[in-house]
Amino acid sequence: MKQITAVVLGAGSRGSTYASYAKEHPEELRIVAIAEPRQDRRDQLADSLGLPQEARYATWQELLAQPPMADCAFVCTLDDDHTAPALKAMDLGYHLLLEKPMSNKEEECRSIVQKAKETGCKLAVCHVLRYTPFYMTLKALIDEGCIGEVTTINQIENVGYWHQAHSFVRGNWRTLRETSPMLLQKSCHDIDIILWLMGKNCKRVQSFGSLRHFTSKNAPKGAPLRCLDGCPHAETCPYYAPKLYLDMTRTGWPVDVITTDLSEAGRRKALEEGPYGRCVYHCDNDVVDRQVVNMEFEDGALATFTMTGLSADFSRQLKIFGTKGQIQADMGTKEIVLHPFGGEKRLIPLDMAQATSGHGGGDFGIMRDFLNILRNGGESRTGATISLQSHLICFAAERSRTQNTVIPL
Ligand SMILES: NC(=O)c1ccc[n+]([C@@H]2O[C@H](COP(=O)([O-])OP(=O)(O)OC[C@H]3O[C@@H](n4cnc5c(N)ncnc54)[C@H](O)[C@@H]3O)[C@@H](O)[C@H]2O)c1
Repeated sequence: MKQITAVVLGAGSRGSTYASYAKEHPEELRIVAIAEPRQDRRDQLADSLGLPQEARYATWQELLAQPPMADCAFVCTLDDDHTAPALKAMDLGYHLLLEKPMSNKEEECRSIVQKAKETGCKLAVCHVLRYTPFYMTLKALIDEGCIGEVTTINQIENVGYWHQAHSFVRGNWRTLRETSPMLLQKSCHDIDIILWLMGKNCKRVQSFGSLRHFTSKNAPKGAPLRCLDGCPHAETCPYYAPKLYLDMTRTGWPVDVITTDLSEAGRRKALEEGPYGRCVYHCDNDVVDRQVVNMEFEDGALATFTMTGLSADFSRQLKIFGTKGQIQADMGTKEIVLHPFGGEKRLIPLDMAQATSGHGGGDFGIMRDFLNILRNGGESRTGATISLQSHLICFAAERSRTQNTVIPL
């Protein structure tokens, strides 16, 4: 098997996740250099990969100023910093694993698609759900005609109250000034999956949503700006930061986002000084905490999507209705129930053998597929042109939400 070489641009949570594939499958993938401004993160990943000092760059700009040094680049910087490294890497002849959203600006998404066409770049956007056994099984059931023609899909994304607080109230994706609208940032996965399962073009879209709960007017009486500043609600508040981050039995995501020093002292310092120790009712967040989207497709098929940050569950659930039956599915419990009209309900078995990575197996699933394409040819099922379609629906839904109108596509 040909070993593929890669450079990692942005060695945060996602960059480290994809790089860890090389540690588990060194015969398939070798990381030859990384770019990361934060020295603790840079050294942590580079040390674990055994990279020499000269393979450690402070920024993607510095790394991509060098002649090409690998087959592909993983673009894992934050949302508003995808386009420039993606375009530059494609110009240098790298193939691309590009984190979603492709960009938080519509015209930049189009320029990435255009550049991929011009350069012949093999590009996979990290819509990792398409690579999970759960959604691949659903897609196969639909394609085999088990429920006839799909007429309606209802999908719920239960973000989880603690995840909403971590990423969208205290964390990286809390404000439109710095990042993407919630629908594009978090739920572009869901819109992409609905489009894939539907297998036809979306004609028009409508959306509602707002920031309802995580605002200062909902702060409990006497709550200080930071949890560790003697909050009187420490016992009862589900968002009390020490409860979420000082459980020393937990070392992975999301705890490893707050600091690279996972000792108790390191975590406390992060909560005292960093963004994750702030009271969730006293942050500078402005992204929505609930949103719904209605979609109409070209043959009259319909889809509804609900994203809620106020959920106990941390999973996706959906119902797919067809002309000959229905499917009910829960990604959390890994249950898919097929119910043909006039027939018996049947639990569909899932092959989870390969699903050892995050996102229900999608993180390594996309990597296996991408490396295979680089070795043997073919196009990614989440290529640039395909991914643009679901991004355009997200941009349109945001316009609908903010302009109070239905948007034709
Ligand atoms: N596919 C998915 O399911 C999924 C899940 C989470 C996040 N994401 C996306 O992945 C991307 C990265 O998210 P993350 O959670 O890893 O964030 P992160 O903050 O952990 O990582 C981003 C890293 O980029 C680094 N960086 C900043 N400027 C840089 C530069 N000039 N050169 C090189 N590196 C630079 C930052 O220091 C940081 O370490 C985001 O766009 C996010 O939306 C995708």
